[in-house]
Amino acid sequence: MPADALPARGARRTVGTMSSEKWAEVDTYLEATVAPDGADLEPIRAAQAAGGLPDIAVSPTQGKFLYLLARIAGARRILEIGTLGGYSTAWLARAVGPDGAVVTLEYDPRHAEVARASLDEAGFGALVEIRVGPAVDSLPFLDGPFDLVFIDADKANNRVYLDWAVRLSRPGTVIVLDNVVRRLGESSPEAEGIRSALERFGTDPRLDATALQTVGVKGWDGLAVAQVR
Ligand SMILES: C[S@@+](CC[C@H](N)C(=O)[O-])C[C@H]1O[C@@H](n2cnc3c(N)ncnc32)[C@H](O)[C@@H]1O
Repeated sequence: MPADALPARGARRTVGTMSSEKWAEVDTYLEATVAPDGADLEPIRAAQAAGGLPDIAVSPTQGKFLYLLARIAGARRILEIGTLGGYSTAWLARAVGPDGAVVTLEYDPRHAEVARASLDEAGFGALVEIRVGPAVDSLPFLDGPFDLVFIDADKANNRVYLDWAVRLSRPGTVIVLDNVVRRLGESSPEAEGIRSALERFGTDPRLDATALQTVGVKGWDGLAVAQVR
């Protein structure tokens, strides 16, 4: 596929008759109708906003989707790369249940501090360990296997994170890679990281994978999911 066929930053926000406003409206409807149980995690989003953190967490319906993936996989130990204010972390902690554990890696101490407070407040404190610093420095010190790995940090390192996710996996482990579409067509280290990880998803015989485009409150993007054979 030619690079100019891929989405780049600032890609047009209207496809056919659907606009990004309509996508957001539908997302809000779906959230209220199908996934209203996310309402009690809204304080985490509010704390992120109040703390001045960027508005780049997964959406409520995406958070519920992650939760369901983890439940379907029977995940008890989850690794997350990219905590931000702990919103996706909370969905994952909810999925592992009271005997489970989530290890989440975050570069920015301020983000980690906001996440720690929110997760404690939401009752997930005992389930979640936040390791602060560049994920590449934390990953070598983790003990696998994890049942699910959610990769959602600096995209330039996606391939490195995927390599670690496989190393810390077991047969059956689910690996989720966020934001695989939005910047795909760029000429940047981030886009290169996304493409390189997707290529491994498609060519590594240990990985059974797919990727989906998504639209919604976060615009046009996508996520990739793999299961380790
Ligand atoms: C998209 S946000 C994560 C959103 C979060 N998963 C959610 O949906 O609620 C990405 C996070 O990765 C963190 N990050 C960026 N580079 C990193 C690195 N090298 N190591 C660990 N975390 C990093 C950022 O500080 C940011 O908090």
